[in-house]
Amino acid sequence: MYMYEFYPYFTNDGSVGLFSPSDDDIYHSTYGAASEAYEKFIFPAELDRYFYNNNEIKILDICFGIGYNSKSFLNYFLNFKKKFLVNKKTLSEYNEKIYTDNVNIQNYNDSTDTNNKINQKNILYSAKIYSDNNSNKIAIQPATWFNNFKIYIKAIDTDKTLAYLSPFINSKSAPPKNYKLPFKNESIQKLLLKRTGNDNKIQKSLIMYPDELNIIILNKIIESNPDILSNSDIETLLSNKKFRKYFNASICSLFNFYKIQGGNYTRKWQLNAFLHNIYYKYLSKRHKKVFNSLLYKNFNFELKIKDARAELKDDTNSYNLIFLDAFTPAKCPCLWTLDFFKLLYNHLEANGMIFTYSNSAAVRNAFLNAGFSVGKIYNESAGKFMGTLATKNCDLIKYPLSEYDLGLIKTRAGIFYRDENLTALNEAILDRHKTEVENSSLISSSKYIKQNKTKGNK
Ligand SMILES: C[S@@+](CC[C@H](N)C(=O)[O-])C[C@H]1O[C@@H](n2cnc3c(N)ncnc32)[C@H](O)[C@@H]1O
Repeated sequence: MYMYEFYPYFTNDGSVGLFSPSDDDIYHSTYGAASEAYEKFIFPAELDRYFYNNNEIKILDICFGIGYNSKSFLNYFLNFKKKFLVNKKTLSEYNEKIYTDNVNIQNYNDSTDTNNKINQKNILYSAKIYSDNNSNKIAIQPATWFNNFKIYIKAIDTDKTLAYLSPFINSKSAPPKNYKLPFKNESIQKLLLKRTGNDNKIQKSLIMYPDELNIIILNKIIESNPDILSNSDIETLLSNKKFRKYFNASICSLFNFYKIQGGNYTRKWQLNAFLHNIYYKYLSKRHKKVFNSLLYKNFNFELKIKDARAELKDDTNSYNLIFLDAFTPAKCPCLWTLDFFKLLYNHLEANGMIFTYSNSAAVRNAFLNAGFSVGKIYNESAGKFMGTLATKNCDLIKYPLSEYDLGLIKTRAGIFYRDENLTALNEAILDRHKTEVENSSLISSSKYIKQNKTKGNK
């Protein structure tokens, strides 16, 4: 009998990670699936700054998997809003930040009559001005900002089952006591135990995605992919006792409720009646508003079950943020080629940013050749550079590639993958790359690294 190969385990921050036997690779390291999402994509994106200056964001989540990157973004958004909305003290801290921000100082100085004319865009600058003139008057309505902030996420993955499981994945409980990794195979254990940093730095509260976030994702997936309601893999996996600890029971019951309703989930009262039973009554008024506006109005989410190359060829959008979370270039080269990056170039806003965890010289070189400015990502938790940022605007690069990195790009390690028609199989891309490396007259990376031993990781 066909069985979807599902290998979940708990990672060190309590979030669920996956191993893929067919790719012989992990989707998430034991370090923490949710923590990783924050460190690789959310923190480097400096979203506070973005939120201050914009009323909408378009995100492309390439390799959605079980959705950590999109969920972490949404969770950050909800937390940002919460901090901002409810806590006056925090509000004034933000104001200071605004004050020291050049862009905003400019706006601050340029605005003449801001006391009353608060337009959406200036609402945060106005907060500063209010507090300057009379600190009792921080009577702004940040809820207006929040309720009008528009989010569009396009999520792409080839694995339908995995993407459909996303809203069910448990993110509320830590691993059970005496939990052991569910793999006997030693090499898998080793792979999983490879750690990448220090896991104490991320706040738990940030990582625990609230139920409402998963409810929102579930509803959006049902909207864009209604066949989830009759998907037999999902049904089998959700009802398998062995996996129960990895799924969120409330979301599973909500899903069953929808199925009974025959997918008639858009009837608001039905959803509210259901939510009321599980937790809705405990939500504050503000929270309900947020929840409803994301659910029905401000959050546009599309899940595409497709090869990212094919999906993007037909896409006419451009994005502010692109998360590229493919398996490593050696496993999934088709999403790291020069040609795929050229395609991404056409989908990136002028001030947009592409984030990836890869430090590979071939990846950086491909980004450069596709026309991007390229920088590094500094991971504060690990205290080192981990990952690459590609953008059209070089001013957005905080950590440029060092001389050492640029030198590495000129070695054989910098030879990038090619896929002109954006249709080649991974094996073919790897073969072609291997031949090119073998025939290259460039210096080998190991020789280069030896020669420049002291300059690495700077
Ligand atoms: C490292 S995992 C991503 C983990 C994910 N971001 C998460 O939060 O769970 C890589 C993902 O890439 C997907 N994938 C592989 N080849 C792809 C392709 N050509 N286009 C789109 N997705 C692909 C796999 O199905 C897998 O889910």
